[in-house]
Amino acid sequence: MYKKKIILGCMNFGGGWNTNPISKEDEKTATEAIETALECGIYTFDHADIYAGGKAETVFGRILKSKPELREKIKIQTKAGILLRAGINESNIYNSSRKYIENQVLKSLENLETEYLDTFLIHRPDVLTDVREIAETFDFLREKGLVREFGVSNMSVYQMKSLYDAYDFPLVTNQIQFSLHHSLMIDAGFFVNNTANTEIYCISGMLEYSRAEDFEIQAWSPLAKGFYAKSESENQINTSKLLTKLALEYQTNVSAILLAWIFKLPAKLAPIIGTTNNERIKQCSEALKINLSHDDWYNLYLTAKGLKLP
Ligand SMILES: NC(=O)c1ccc[n+]([C@@H]2O[C@H](COP(=O)([O-])OP(=O)(O)OC[C@H]3O[C@@H](n4cnc5c(N)ncnc54)[C@H](OP(=O)(O)O)[C@@H]3O)[C@@H](O)[C@H]2O)c1
Repeated sequence: MYKKKIILGCMNFGGGWNTNPISKEDEKTATEAIETALECGIYTFDHADIYAGGKAETVFGRILKSKPELREKIKIQTKAGILLRAGINESNIYNSSRKYIENQVLKSLENLETEYLDTFLIHRPDVLTDVREIAETFDFLREKGLVREFGVSNMSVYQMKSLYDAYDFPLVTNQIQFSLHHSLMIDAGFFVNNTANTEIYCISGMLEYSRAEDFEIQAWSPLAKGFYAKSESENQINTSKLLTKLALEYQTNVSAILLAWIFKLPAKLAPIIGTTNNERIKQCSEALKINLSHDDWYNLYLTAKGLKLP
């Protein structure tokens, strides 16, 4: 039986997306967030080479160096494949070539002060890299003992299936944006015969595919970045009211209800929370104990979308 799991996202570690050096305060914030996470039963930490311009991995590595006993107790995952603002008009471009990924993994290992990664993910699909090349890269990194397991991020069912077919080992996850607010993965399932809106089909079927292949879906931005704490639209206000009502009924808090909504789906769903606020980390961990009712789940969905199902 799959044990519910929350992951701590480290995107905001190291002082954020600026060129300031990592301060003592940044290190203290990250240390406390890690400690709080561990106290709450959160043992997996999500990184990417680009987070805070590399500072997120670096500050994590410093903490790990000062507490080496932590390494075997935790799981560290990181991602690579996005080159920030490297394209024309400062657009990001993607690169999953063997040379690029191997180099980035070596850099991440150095920054994180660890000899191995528990999991490495391709951050976004690079249409120019053949899946067989990615499989070779994964083989090389696994055989060298540098990475134990592999996954992807922001990929469709077809992109993932293509890599599955090329690689001899199971992929352990697809990390995608998913929350009550951003629910493309399931939206299409409700309108199979009712809409011409193709936008919602791009990630549809992922839930079912994850069950068929038995991998975990890691949900990024599961708290919708605090979207329901704002009152800019009627849906937002109504959803916020319902979240508060349910938080009272379930004797918990709004963040936990948002995560419990994700956990209710019958698949391996692991929300990646992006907070460094210790109180919010604790609040989120309450979701591990909540089982939202069938009707409450639907009522949240209907209120957030402002719709009636056919
Ligand atoms: N694979 C990808 O492409 C991808 C993309 C983006 C992120 N990620 C991963 O996912 C993790 C989480 O992403 P995220 O940070 O966007 O997720 P999130 O957990 O939905 O958002 C966290 C942010 O929302 C704020 N927030 C949450 N609830 C709030 C409330 N009630 N009121 C006010 N503010 C609230 C938090 O502020 P406080 O800090 O004050 O709590 C924090 O800044 C990242 O750290 C990263 O590891 C992956």
